[in-house]
Amino acid sequence: MSIHISAKPGEIAKIVLLPGDPLRAKYIVDTYLQDAKLVSSTRNIYFYTGTYKGVQVSIGASGMGCPSIGIYSYELYTEYEVDCIIRIGTCGAYTSDLKLFDLINIEVAASESTYAKYAWGIEGNAIAHQGKAFDIIKSTAAENALQLNCCAIHCSDIFYRSTTNIPAVAVQHNCLAVEMEAFALFANAKYLGKTAAALLTVSDIIPTHEKISADQREQALLPMMDLALEAAFKLAER
Ligand code: HPA
Repeated sequence: MSIHISAKPGEIAKIVLLPGDPLRAKYIVDTYLQDAKLVSSTRNIYFYTGTYKGVQVSIGASGMGCPSIGIYSYELYTEYEVDCIIRIGTCGAYTSDLKLFDLINIEVAASESTYAKYAWGIEGNAIAHQGKAFDIIKSTAAENALQLNCCAIHCSDIFYRSTTNIPAVAVQHNCLAVEMEAFALFANAKYLGKTAAALLTVSDIIPTHEKISADQREQALLPMMDLALEAAFKLAER
């Protein structure tokens, strides 16, 4: 039991998938896991543990933004002996070269956030994915002939802003899209020597205002969920 997760010791698997939304976590569990058990519902942030093709996996929610994923990922790594966290989420594309439903495997998260510096003394405004999950996601996508963009993304604290200009840090690192959590996840994993990757589906194209509709969202996210679970299965084998 940690401050924000009420699972008992041993109730969380070594590999955790973290969507932002608790109901999306439940949807993935209902769609893919066998023998799933709800192990924490503190603050309605549900965590479930079950099996995927015989491998134990936990799925929970990160909430939105670096502060929230910073808390959950830190407690998972330090209080539940989690080895690997794969964030699965959505992003807004900064370029119309990306299309709705495209998949991104984040190579580097660039951010104006002070999280890494003030939490762990990590300097600089960009942090790479950590450990071997990124490569396993990449090779799994290739085996399944799934198109996957491996690139830098902007991890922002801001969803609503007064201008549509691309922020300087995103230009500096040639970020193709924006989301809100990867930087803190990668910072925690780097500091703790753990594994972290982040897999995203493009849900909106910022310059053209195209968006995945609410009805499309559940179906639209299935390829990402499949890929994350297949990668988790392979990670567990190694
Ligand atoms: N900004 C930040 N995060 C996001 C966006 C966005 O436009 N779309 C999906 N996640």
